[in-house]
Amino acid sequence: MKAIVINAYGGRDQLKEYEVPKPLPKDNEVLIKIHATSINPIDWKVREGYLKSRLPFHFPIILGWDAAGVVERVGAKVTRFEVGDRVFTRPATTERGTYAEYIAVDEAHVAPMPKNATFTEAAAVPLAGLTAWQSLVEFAGLKKGDRVLIHGGAGGVGSFAIQIAKAKGAEVTATGSSQSAEIIKNLGADHFLNYVTDSLSDAGEFDVVLDTIGGKTQEESFEVLKPGGVLVSILQAPDQEKAKAKNVKAGLIWMEPNGKQLEELGKMIEDGRLKPLIDTVLPFSEEGLKKAHERSESGHAKGKIVIEVVKDETR
Ligand SMILES: NC(=O)c1ccc[n+]([C@@H]2O[C@H](COP(=O)([O-])OP(=O)(O)OC[C@H]3O[C@@H](n4cnc5c(N)ncnc54)[C@H](OP(=O)(O)O)[C@@H]3O)[C@@H](O)[C@H]2O)c1
Repeated sequence: MKAIVINAYGGRDQLKEYEVPKPLPKDNEVLIKIHATSINPIDWKVREGYLKSRLPFHFPIILGWDAAGVVERVGAKVTRFEVGDRVFTRPATTERGTYAEYIAVDEAHVAPMPKNATFTEAAAVPLAGLTAWQSLVEFAGLKKGDRVLIHGGAGGVGSFAIQIAKAKGAEVTATGSSQSAEIIKNLGADHFLNYVTDSLSDAGEFDVVLDTIGGKTQEESFEVLKPGGVLVSILQAPDQEKAKAKNVKAGLIWMEPNGKQLEELGKMIEDGRLKPLIDTVLPFSEEGLKKAHERSESGHAKGKIVIEVVKDETR
């Protein structure tokens, strides 16, 4: 099968088209013919070698950990899926990722695709959507009426976080540059805060802060939390001394693949409470992937960058 791989850590030029063996599903796995995949910052962080001690992979590495497609084969012990099912997934973080025509995935990490979504839309959801869900719902225990601050509201994770927080009945403030103001309002945020010109301290106090940025943004976030509030970061472990002094819960989370939670997100898409924000759709080629990484590395994507592995003639 065709895959885009890296054979060494480094820049975007490392992304190369390659023929690799089509995977065979194990007993608990489904073989998915991938129609679309999407880009996350972890892709280029792995490409550069920034995560090599945490993820000791062997070359050639197939990057990419989001997919939407059709089940082509099922392992002997698979119970939830059949050949022909349209599915989406955030597979385990292995060196056999989703910049490929096929992937074999543990059925526990797979969910039925929302009926009203295209492959392009569905591929945008798993990694970023699950990160937003696990941060706000699992870690922070977000409740109706909570005041929540979401940093990077127009980003991959932030765009899902705004919609999930609104669906839970929270009052949402989200940050971005002036280029993101309109997008953030359209996603349903109640308030927009410009991180270049506005001061966080003027925005009031929050029950929950989602930190997608780290550094100074995280430091300042401690100052706007109510006592008993929650700071959840997806980037950098918060200072526990500071958390104790401020009487808040603070932690770093690493998202985990979870088919059941993904199914919940799928239902939210079906009933109109969640809509993936798509930045760009690019073709499945060396050039397409290089452009996609460049856009993600800019740090200013508006929603998700999607790669069409099978051209969708209906778009
Ligand atoms: N721990 C985990 O499990 C986990 C999971 C997913 C992601 N992550 C990490 O979380 C980070 C965010 O991921 P993502 O997919 O959401 O990234 P992304 O889509 O690349 O985020 C881009 C967005 O960030 C905004 N932004 C840039 N600088 C900002 C600032 N100083 N303040 C507020 N917003 C700012 C940009 O808005 P403007 O264009 O308006 O500037 C842009 O819309 C990445 O570092 C990623 O690796 C971790």
